[in-house]
Amino acid sequence: MLNALGVHLVLIQSTRHAIDSYIAEQGLESSYHGHRRITDESLLDRIISLVSQHRLTFRGLFMRAKHRNRARSSLISGNFVSAKPLGVHEGINHKLTGSVRRIDTDAIHRQLQAGSIVYLDHLAHSPAGELYNLASEEVAAETAVALHADKLILMGETPHCVDSQGDRISELALALIGTTQAHQNDEMKRRLDAAERAVRGGVGRCHLLGAGIDGAILTELMTADGTGTLIASQPAAPVRQARVDDLPGLIHLLAPLEEKGALVQRSRDKLEAEINHFCIIEQDGRILGSAALYPLDHASAELAALAVDHATTEQSIGSKLLKHIEQQARASSITNLFVLTTQASDWFKERGFVMSSVEALPENRQALYNYQRNSLILKKEL
Ligand SMILES: CC(C)(COP(=O)(O)OP(=O)(O)OC[C@H]1O[C@@H](n2cnc3c(N)ncnc32)[C@H](O)[C@@H]1OP(=O)(O)O)[C@@H](O)C(=O)NCCC(=O)NCCS
Repeated sequence: MLNALGVHLVLIQSTRHAIDSYIAEQGLESSYHGHRRITDESLLDRIISLVSQHRLTFRGLFMRAKHRNRARSSLISGNFVSAKPLGVHEGINHKLTGSVRRIDTDAIHRQLQAGSIVYLDHLAHSPAGELYNLASEEVAAETAVALHADKLILMGETPHCVDSQGDRISELALALIGTTQAHQNDEMKRRLDAAERAVRGGVGRCHLLGAGIDGAILTELMTADGTGTLIASQPAAPVRQARVDDLPGLIHLLAPLEEKGALVQRSRDKLEAEINHFCIIEQDGRILGSAALYPLDHASAELAALAVDHATTEQSIGSKLLKHIEQQARASSITNLFVLTTQASDWFKERGFVMSSVEALPENRQALYNYQRNSLILKKEL
């Protein structure tokens, strides 16, 4: 589907679980040095056959999907990655375990430009023709860096990173990767290392997702929530309570929207008096968005002044603020969230609001309704 939408895709196969199962079934000892498995000749032979099996299975699935969707794209594999031996580290010979030497970006770009999907595995030859077993996460990160990819998606058994309480971390700042590592399992640690390498190497965003979650890629890419962990070079700023010293920035944000008639006029004094109702998202001293919550009665509240800096794109600031306001409202046992809007009714409808009326508003708010402004009234049951 992503390919049909014009997204250039490079897929990297991991065979780690199959290799682990094979080693367990055979009762073999797998030797590791740090995170890296040491590959000897007999293990390499088995890995070659597992990698081929996986590639053929995937090719079959791809063919079926291509036929079903009448797609025209091809799946291309080839010698796009060259390897070098990892060598001897701390006295340990890594034998046929290798590392990425070079990615043939020109050849990959040519395939992507032609609309093909490039499929890489983690076996690669050195320029001398020797075959090495690489870590698939390394191949993925190095390929993403070399191609200047917009995104790297690393899928695995663990669906996301967790904090010290075991709760999901949906966004992780690059600087916090080190301290978060301690709470992750080995599989996630490997992916975090690769994500860090990729993002430091210039890849804009890296998503860590659960391979077992149906639709994980689409929900992660297309919705504000997702199910995984996002690591970005510039982590999205969190929503926070507004303070009096935010007033100049808030006025700067709201004034143009008030002039356009999208928002109701608020004087500086009124804003200052009501600052506690506001939450904002601020980044590098600039306010990217705001929203306010006004309780109307014991069960209803109004969302107001939802505003996003027009220069801010693709950060879902509006959706994040709405989510925050809904959480705040629920925490106060609010069940009906109203919004009055002149220019964004569709935006709210797409987020679960339905058309309502003046009569549905609590009486105290009905009395203040500005018939001249004629805002549309929408309501969401929380
Ligand atoms: C409505 C508003 C808050 C949305 O903020 P945002 O950060 O752009 O929202 P998100 O990033 O979460 O969502 C973006 C999507 O909403 C769409 N969208 C933005 N404004 C919209 C509007 N007025 N009506 C319908 N859809 C809108 C975008 O096209 C985008 O759609 P896409 O994902 O299909 O490309 C922002 O446009 C705004 O500040 N509007 C002016 C103030 C206003 O009317 N506030 C509501 C009254 S309180």
